[in-house]
Amino acid sequence: MPEASQLLDRILVLEMVRVTEAAAIAASKLIGRGDEKAADAAAVEAMREAFNELAIDGTVVIGEGERDEAPMLYIGEKVGRAADGDPKVDIALDPLEGTTITAKAGADALAVLAIAEQGNLLNAPDVYMEKLAIGPGYPEGTIDLTRSPTENIEAIAKAKGVAPRDIIACVLDRPRHAALIAELRGLGCGIKLIPDGDVAGVIATTDEDTTIDVYMGQGGAPEGVLAAAALRCVGGQFNGRLVFRNDDEKARAAKWGVEDLDRIYTLEELAKGDVIFAATGVTDGSMLDGVKYLRKGCMTTESVAMRASSGTVRWVRGEHRCG
Ligand code: FBP
Repeated sequence: MPEASQLLDRILVLEMVRVTEAAAIAASKLIGRGDEKAADAAAVEAMREAFNELAIDGTVVIGEGERDEAPMLYIGEKVGRAADGDPKVDIALDPLEGTTITAKAGADALAVLAIAEQGNLLNAPDVYMEKLAIGPGYPEGTIDLTRSPTENIEAIAKAKGVAPRDIIACVLDRPRHAALIAELRGLGCGIKLIPDGDVAGVIATTDEDTTIDVYMGQGGAPEGVLAAAALRCVGGQFNGRLVFRNDDEKARAAKWGVEDLDRIYTLEELAKGDVIFAATGVTDGSMLDGVKYLRKGCMTTESVAMRASSGTVRWVRGEHRCG
């Protein structure tokens, strides 16, 4: 018989799916409606409500922003019923990862969260993070953010036993990535340019069916912690370095306790110890199907829940009554 705390942890794995399902269903009503803000607000409200039904003593460490800029699920907000004996957990969340994707009915919008014991998730400031990620199966140290993109592609190709031109990289389609894209094109690599949604982009490296070998480039630091939590569960390697565009962003980092501004974070430094990661598809994507409304008066959801300590990955298909 497992100890009570372990048992609770196991129950929490599926409880987390309820939370991401609630956010995804709420956001799905706004798919393709051209309103990012409304879609995000619906997901935030539903996720908060679902969290507050749970027997946890949770603190949001990565959320919708600082208290003065986000009314719900702000950094530091307490969620859960928080009765005596409820587990104290830190939570990283993004009720709608891919607001523009949702507004435009594009691919790979997710409702996503990660939980860990208190103090085990990096309190990342809301700045950019330079990210480099590969899936499982490579020798440790194959990627290294101190090396150039060319050196990293060569190292991945060597470890995979292919030529650099056979490597497929996933990169956010942004002007800031022009030099990176030119360098990859120079090597003859394939590049999957994504419009948004780099949590899904990083996770895609763990699934050979996507054919994506590596994720490269700058995206949100909070999304970096969420992606790292997923990689902790399924394996893979990740290097992340915070990117500061001005003194204000540096001050923000200092406020969250970041001392070494050039530090390169590995998986364990972003998400330590036992971690649960859960996601539900809002729109169809490489990992999960989106929410579907069926004629028989119900809707379906597809979710994944993973746990770092056991390495278990559960795929959950939900059927829910509409209305
Ligand atoms: P939102 O869901 O908040 O719109 O974020 C989407 C996203 O594409 C993330 O996946 C990514 O990390 C970040 O935005 C990139 O930021 P930017 O759009 O400024 O390049």
